[in-house]
Amino acid sequence: MKRHDIFTIHAAPFYAYRKQVILRQAQKLKQVFPDFEILYSIKTNPFFPILQTISEFGLGADAASAKEVSESRRAGIPSERIYFSAPGKTRDELEDVIGRCHIIADSFHELDLCNRLAQEKHAVLPIGIRINPAFSMEGTEGGPSQFGIDEEQLLSSHAFDDFPALRPTGIHVHIQSQILDADQLTAYYAHVLTLALRLEHLWDTKFSYINFGSGLGIVYDPDTQKPLDLDVLQKKVSTVFDAFRPRLQAKFLLESGRFLVGESGVYVTEIMDIKISRGKTYYIVKNGTNGFFRPVMKELMTKDQHTPAPAEPFYTCPNISQVTLLADREGTETVDIVGGLCSRYDLLASNVTLPRAEVGDRLLFTNAGSYGYTLSPLLFGSQTPPDQLWLEHEIDI
Ligand SMILES: Cc1ncc(COP(=O)(O)O)c(C=O)c1O
Repeated sequence: MKRHDIFTIHAAPFYAYRKQVILRQAQKLKQVFPDFEILYSIKTNPFFPILQTISEFGLGADAASAKEVSESRRAGIPSERIYFSAPGKTRDELEDVIGRCHIIADSFHELDLCNRLAQEKHAVLPIGIRINPAFSMEGTEGGPSQFGIDEEQLLSSHAFDDFPALRPTGIHVHIQSQILDADQLTAYYAHVLTLALRLEHLWDTKFSYINFGSGLGIVYDPDTQKPLDLDVLQKKVSTVFDAFRPRLQAKFLLESGRFLVGESGVYVTEIMDIKISRGKTYYIVKNGTNGFFRPVMKELMTKDQHTPAPAEPFYTCPNISQVTLLADREGTETVDIVGGLCSRYDLLASNVTLPRAEVGDRLLFTNAGSYGYTLSPLLFGSQTPPDQLWLEHEIDI
């Protein structure tokens, strides 16, 4: 199949995900973290063929809801490779997943709920704890967070006295996504390992897992970002983990969403109208904000500030997606690409230079595999949501 055939045949708009890219990324993670269990963060993209690919490759699941636990099981991921971690779990959800995954409690209230459920079943429940650590990704002190339990509140040998039916079996620390600096990631891993040793000592236990959360980033904007140097990361990581390994029995877990699937996905939409208003050219496409929301965040974030900080997973940097016209056209023009909603912020790209398009031509946006379909307000405007396509074979974009 020629380069763009698949993208021009299927009715637009749609997302398309390339299996071979996901497999390549998974292979890279295995090389950098050879002894780790890699967990796919389903929230980034729960499209079922992706879960099946993840399962076939032997990865585990980072599930953020009971539904994601069920979907993992349906895709063939064994219970012992599924970790359920999210704030605000309900009693029903917890009851539903017991025995079908590892549960990672996010608060003392959740510990209490789990303890009661275990007592009702006359069982001892292994439990993981998400920790809000006393350090940040930048190496400074940690701040308040809605995620996990503050490290300081756990630094007591009595932390589990109120929960006799629970056995602490693991910890989970995730503080930041989209890191492209190997030194930063390595320092973070060393902090987590030190914390794990400290808690094992205090609680007189040996953890069966340490979950380092995610953090690995991808290049969204090649003009301003450099890819994470995986060779450097591998060397640094192996030095750190080799130093701690003899003192720990725990399995090491790493979560990953965008690194695995971000670059696999594209978003394709159609130009429905072309309008010139007081010298400015607009391409009006099907399903802008209500198709692929992340590029739109640029306008919202840069409205008042010049250099807004990332706000993952909604906003990473101004240009998260490169846009291509899927038609051979003469000449170029500089345009705004907008959707059809009742907002001037329904803007996928501003002042972008493209070949001079015609109504009916299609545009392809890159980096749409992660936080694309699920993060977009697909119901807004009551338009038909985009399809999702699965591309098994190698295909260029
Ligand atoms: C706890 C946790 N783990 C993993 C992820 C996945 O992050 P990423 O897609 O950057 O790998 C997230 C993203 O928000 C998260 O909150």
